[in-house]
Order: sequence, then structure tokens, then C-alpha cells
Amino acid sequence: MSTATEDTMPTHESGPTTEIVRLVDVGKAYGNVTALREVNLSVRQGEVTCVLGDNGAGKSTLIKIMSGLHDYDAGQMYVNGELSHFSSPREALGAGIATVYQDLALAPLMSVWRNFFLGNEIRRGPLRLLDNKRMEQVTGEELTRMGISIPDLDRPVASLSGGQRQCIAIARAIHFGAKVIILDEPTAALGVKQSGVVLKYIVRARDAGLGVVFITHNPHHAYLVGNHFVVLKLGRIALDEEREDLTLDQLTAEMAGGDELAELSHEIRQMDAAADR
Ligand SMILES: Nc1ncnc2c1ncn2[C@@H]1O[C@H](COP(=O)(O)OP(=O)(O)OP(=O)(O)O)[C@@H](O)[C@H]1O
Ligand SMILES: [Mg+2]
Repeated sequence: MSTATEDTMPTHESGPTTEIVRLVDVGKAYGNVTALREVNLSVRQGEVTCVLGDNGAGKSTLIKIMSGLHDYDAGQMYVNGELSHFSSPREALGAGIATVYQDLALAPLMSVWRNFFLGNEIRRGPLRLLDNKRMEQVTGEELTRMGISIPDLDRPVASLSGGQRQCIAIARAIHFGAKVIILDEPTAALGVKQSGVVLKYIVRARDAGLGVVFITHNPHHAYLVGNHFVVLKLGRIALDEEREDLTLDQLTAEMAGGDELAELSHEIRQMDAAADR
């Protein structure tokens, strides 16, 4: 049962979930390229909203709007019920929306705990000296609390696996008060095992009450953790379903582009036949 995707500002009568971000008919053009058109999307507390779509579908544009990198030029964005236009990522962060990018998340040569507190260092005493011991201790506590085990927090982040790095970036966002975390293809460059680490972590963040926006090409990853699924095609929403109204097969077929695949298969068979002649 999906809650209505009506154009009006929604209310949630059912269940305890609270809507944190709501996009209503949002559009965005880059010059004469329309990257997004009439997009409606809800991000709710304690839920994973998956955004899927092929290359160029508009996924990154969508999260850039929510994370304050780009403004939208049609429709409305409500954050905690208030009409919002962010003019910088800092403003989005101030509203509790944190974004974890695949590569830019951490400083590779710095230690785990330095990265954790980068830009938010703990200081002590009248001279405001860095309280390294305390930062290392809090980092250890936070990572343990979220089920991540990294034995040596002095190690540079570069020596960690991609999955561990993603988890540290997420843990940091949560520690510093994020209400929404947006993950841009966090499993794209990872193997099966490391993807599993990140997916479990997404579930933990969800269960801690955050709203998670999970951008991915991979319907299997999405279906493992998602509550709500949106597929973008050429900047428009092609599918918008709650988990209970959607099977993995339907999601996969939508992503694979059933018709386009049939057409491609036909073309390849013709090429094979021509080569045999
Ligand atoms: N800064 C920009 N200037 C001009 N056009 C852009 C810009 N960013 C994106 N576009 C165009 O907007 C459309 C959507 O791009 P976007 O990056 O949002 O897609 P995406 O779904 O994230 O793709 P991918 O899976 O390849 O990351 C594309 O046609 C793209 O070429
Ligand atoms: Mg992208």
C-alpha cells in the first residue's frame, strides 16, 4: 500500500514514520538539457528509499538538489515540512541531510579517527588544543556501536577496504546529527563481501531511525534493504512502489529495460546470423 504520491503536501496518518524530505514535481535543467522532470519523492525516517536508473537517468542530479550542490528550477522541496532551497552543502547539512560520495568521503592519508572528526575536531583547555585521545576514543565507541570492527584506528584510511571506508563516512554523518543520509552508489565499486558490509550498515542506519536514500544501479542490492523504490528514466519517474507492491523480478525487469533488451537480443541474433553466412 503506497501512501499517495499526490501533488499536495502529504500527511502520514498510518504508522510512525515521519517524512523528512518531500519533493513535489521537481525539475532541473542544465542549459537546454532537462535532467529531471516532475519528480515526486519522499524520504521518511526509519526507511530506505532506493533510487535506481541507468546512466544519465538523473540520479546524481536528484541527490545534488537534496544535498545543496544544485538548486532545482521547478516544483517544490519540503524539508521537515518547510519549503526549502539550499544554496550550499553546508546548508543541507544544517538541515540534517548528509551525503556520502563514493570517492570524496574521506582523506586517504589521515588516520581513521582524524577522518572521523575532520572539520569537527574536539578541543580542550584554554589553548584549545586538539584532544587526540578523546577523538580516538569516541571514534572507537561509535564504530563499535554501529558494529564496525577496525582494530587499529591509527591506520590511514587508504589502507582500509572500500566497504570499511563507506561505513566510516556513514558513521561520521550519523554521529554529527544527520537525519537523512544519501549514499551515491556506495556498492558500485565493491565486491560481494564488501557490498554486504555496506548493505548491513544501511540497515543499521535505518534501524537507528535515519532516512536513507540509496542510489544504485543494482536491483538486487536495492531489494535487499529497500522499503521504497523509485526508478528514474531520462529524468522522469518510471516506477514508484513500496516494497510490498513490488517483486525483485519486477524491479530487475524495470531496470534491465525489458523491451530494450528484447530489441537488443533480436539485433544481436541478426548480427550472428549475418556472420554465419
Ligand atoms: N553539470 C551538468 N551540465 C550539463 N548537463 C549535465 C550536468 N550534470 C548532468 N547533466 C546531464 O543531466 C542528465 C542526468 O545526469 P545525472 O548525472 O544526474 O545522471 P545519473 O543518473 O547520475 O547517471 P550515472 O549513472 O551515469 O551517474 C544527463 O543527461 C547529463 O548529461
Ligand atoms: Mg550519477
